[in-house]
Amino acid sequence: MTPDPAPTVRQLLAFYLEAGVDCALTEEPVDRLSEADTAPAIRTAAAGEPAQARPARTTPATTLAAPAPRHEIAPAPEAAISSAREAARTAPTLPALRALLENFDGCALKFTATRLVFADGNPQARVMFVGEAPGRDEDIAGLPFVGRSGKLLDRMIAAIGLDRTSAYIANVIPWRPPGNRTPTPQETQICLPFIQRQIELVNPDVLVTLGNPSTQTLLAAREGIMRTRGKWFDYHTGTRTIRAMATFHPAYLLRSPSYKRLSWQDLRSIAKALEPHSRSLENS
Ligand code: URA
Repeated sequence: MTPDPAPTVRQLLAFYLEAGVDCALTEEPVDRLSEADTAPAIRTAAAGEPAQARPARTTPATTLAAPAPRHEIAPAPEAAISSAREAARTAPTLPALRALLENFDGCALKFTATRLVFADGNPQARVMFVGEAPGRDEDIAGLPFVGRSGKLLDRMIAAIGLDRTSAYIANVIPWRPPGNRTPTPQETQICLPFIQRQIELVNPDVLVTLGNPSTQTLLAAREGIMRTRGKWFDYHTGTRTIRAMATFHPAYLLRSPSYKRLSWQDLRSIAKALEPHSRSLENS
């Protein structure tokens, strides 16, 4: 039996692409197996401020003297989560929060993403949409929802008479997971304090979670999107209670267009809640 011929470079690249491996992280290959089992300190300072270097809980003292290069090892998740909580709390404004995230080294996704995808739209908006995590197009543009699903989100927002000048858009995770893989629970927990603070600072009247991951993360919903969508939740921003509704993620609607009808129903409820006489729970 003659062995299969070795794959061509083109075939190998096609294989990688299909597996979601669509970007090179460094110029040179890295032998991960030879790396020491250590975690670096977490940098959380805002841009221009001195970094508050703190050892991760499991970090031996020697690691601080010779930290691993920034892109190589993520800090221990528990240390990163508490560092994220502490950092997010201190951001007084959205630009400060953005600067904080730019300097936060606690989430490994930062080192594989091209750039931070913080938000798009109007920070004064009365409605805020939150998706899961940026994809390839967003990673390149540095803006959320600019690809195919973003075009559909624009149409969904237009259905309630708004656009990106009158709505605010962000994601639970502000860095693209490599190959668009699902973020790990740890990555989500590390990023959670930042999106919670972002919601608090935008202070919308209505929060719309797009799809299951952002609904389960932000609204602590246990059931799937089929059951949670279209219902009103109370969301505590930290300073007040606002109304929140889950609807389908536009990427899901692109795959399953028959659900657009239900999504349009959700959007009608959202539009109603945004009518001038409709007040937030806090005032009712
Ligand atoms: N999907 C998301 O959840 N967010 C984006 O920004 C793009 C696609």
